[in-house]
Amino acid sequence: MSFPAQLAADAAAIQAGLQAALADHAEEPVIHAMRYALNGGKRLRGFLVLESARLFGVDSALPAACSVEALHAYSLVHDDLPCMDDDDLRRGLPTVHRKWDEATAVLAGDALQTLAFALLTDPALGPADRRIALVAGLAKASGAEGMVLGQALDIAAETAATPLTLPQITRLQAGKTGALIRFSAEAGAILAAEDPAPLRSYATALGLAFQIADDILDVTGDPAKAGKRLQKDAAAGKATFVSLLGLEAAQARARSLVDEAATALSPYGARAVTLIEAAHFVVTRES
Ligand code: IPE
Ligand code: IPE
Ligand code: MG
Ligand code: MG
Ligand code: MG
Repeated sequence: MSFPAQLAADAAAIQAGLQAALADHAEEPVIHAMRYALNGGKRLRGFLVLESARLFGVDSALPAACSVEALHAYSLVHDDLPCMDDDDLRRGLPTVHRKWDEATAVLAGDALQTLAFALLTDPALGPADRRIALVAGLAKASGAEGMVLGQALDIAAETAATPLTLPQITRLQAGKTGALIRFSAEAGAILAAEDPAPLRSYATALGLAFQIADDILDVTGDPAKAGKRLQKDAAAGKATFVSLLGLEAAQARARSLVDEAATALSPYGARAVTLIEAAHFVVTRES
């Protein structure tokens, strides 16, 4: 199956899985806000879970794919809050705090986060020790050593007295975007009890390329295609590869990271072709 067809099939399965996870919940505004926040998106992180699992012949990874997408949705709801990036549009629709209110957005984000961990306890994912390894991996990737740290560094950089250096921006992005992408790609190896090292190298390069592409899109993208407000980073004083290196050097860096990502998967030969196509997609995407 080609990468676009595989991504579309995986996105449909993830969408169905996420709706099923909330099917028996109370009909309350906070639950409606969670469902709303879970809709749409490219589902790249969920795809990485499913495709890395398929690399090892594992085809029961759907709850883990839904888990990373729930965690990601929470991070977006909170990222858009007035105290963070103060955005009013996400995935082509009003942000959760605009459609409901800030308290609902904070609480819906909180509950999406706990939903993510609950999904990883699903017995369909296999033996308990592997599920525990997934829980520990997601906690590390999303918390104070991962996404939350990166988000804190991102916000702090807005008011820093001097621009961040390249190592500082790399650390920031490795946390805010890289850690969850890396966990997503490693999840297949964890589920199969295989060595995650090649997938870790792949995803480290991929995650950085992904955030550089996001930063480039902020400058050059079409908001109608991106489904979110663009040209905000410079005005907000965000520290990005584009702000540090300029557009062309950032584009070149993203392209070389795609090559790095592809090379990391050479141990898997032709089996990794869809993951390699995904890396190319990450830097050519328009949304
Ligand atoms: C956007 O992530 C936020 C970043 C980490 C840059 P995505 O571009 O994956 O957003 P969706 O899930 O497709 O909406
Ligand atoms: C968001 O990064 C990262 C997380 C939500 C963890 P950005 O702030 O650059 O994402 P967009 O541009 O709002 O999608
Ligand atoms: Mg942000
Ligand atoms: Mg943002
Ligand atoms: Mg951005």
